[in-house]
Amino acid sequence: MVKSKKWILATKFEGEPKDSNFKLEEEELPELKDGEFICDAVYLSVDPYMRAHSFPVGSCVIGEQVAKVSESKNKDYPVGCLVQMYSGWRSRTLVDPSKPEDLEAVRFLKVPDLGNLKSSLALGILGMPGMTAYFGFLEICQPKAGETVLVNGAAGAVGSVVGQIAKIKGCKVIGFAGSKEKCDWVKSLGFDHVFNYKEVNINESLKEAAPDGIDCYFDNVGGDFTSTALQHMNLFGRISICGGISVYNATKPPIGPSPYMTILSKQLKIEGFIVYRWWKRFLEGKAEMKKWIDEGKIKYRETVEEGFDNMPKIFMSLLKGANIGKMIVKA
Ligand SMILES: NC(=O)c1ccc[n+]([C@@H]2O[C@H](COP(=O)([O-])OP(=O)(O)OC[C@H]3O[C@@H](n4cnc5c(N)ncnc54)[C@H](OP(=O)(O)O)[C@@H]3O)[C@@H](O)[C@H]2O)c1
Repeated sequence: MVKSKKWILATKFEGEPKDSNFKLEEEELPELKDGEFICDAVYLSVDPYMRAHSFPVGSCVIGEQVAKVSESKNKDYPVGCLVQMYSGWRSRTLVDPSKPEDLEAVRFLKVPDLGNLKSSLALGILGMPGMTAYFGFLEICQPKAGETVLVNGAAGAVGSVVGQIAKIKGCKVIGFAGSKEKCDWVKSLGFDHVFNYKEVNINESLKEAAPDGIDCYFDNVGGDFTSTALQHMNLFGRISICGGISVYNATKPPIGPSPYMTILSKQLKIEGFIVYRWWKRFLEGKAEMKKWIDEGKIKYRETVEEGFDNMPKIFMSLLKGANIGKMIVKA
């Protein structure tokens, strides 16, 4: 019998996640039948959506991982083969590919050949966060050369890529991040202006960096930041609502100025999205991103922490800004 560990949501999140929200359980995987195989987690992703989405108490915490086949009765998935899937915070997963609907439900894929690149990138720039930046920015903001782009969460997995794509498209880019080290890195990526939102007045910083206003705003943060940013949008500005990390832990609905008259008078186009609306185009987005990486036009960074047993601690540190670039857990 093969044993597997999984992290369970023990209690509903209320405010900031805490240790008591999580419980580590062990389970025994059944004997393999023909066609089945077992994969061992190699890299697990921790992402802000794990806080934002609600999923049932008692179920495995949601999430994607890159895993290596360790036992197999399926010649298409031999031992050593790398796969990726949303199987949650599990150390080992039994996969039965005779149930395509199950595979679809966990977005099961073989990790593509990434050449010299690490397979963990399939969870970052060459995976969901990279595609969030690619489609969420290009499709919704429709940036044009010479325009001014604002992105917050600029040192994160998504934001750092959005700003670099905006530079490739010939835009002026303003970024906000939460520490000097993060701001220095973001500046090194080619952003034109970078501010530490914890230390500056956002309104004054935007006046200084965007005296002619903002055309495209890619929002990872929401809340007060967005109330301020709205005032700096140009006529016919486009806003891509990607995330609202500043309010994920809020226990009361955030109160702010009503945005309606600003949206109306500036004739803004504001659109929220979930990246999987472009799932069928992920191959196209990944190919373009890989090309930009190979050409040196896009740089990426990972913060890799170790230990499956440390998943909750690493997840909680992500929400507090411990990562630069994509936060990854090495199992
Ligand atoms: N719509 C979609 O389909 C989709 C897909 C992926 C991600 N997202 C969203 O995109 C955003 C970024 O995700 P990511 O994976 O790239 O995460 P990330 O930016 O790599 O990590 C989260 C970062 O959020 C920042 N943060 C935490 N609290 C904050 C606050 N109160 N105000 C401002 N920043 C705060 C921290 O950086 P600082 O040190 O800079 O504060 C932290 O490092 C999240 O809102 C996420 O939910 C949406």
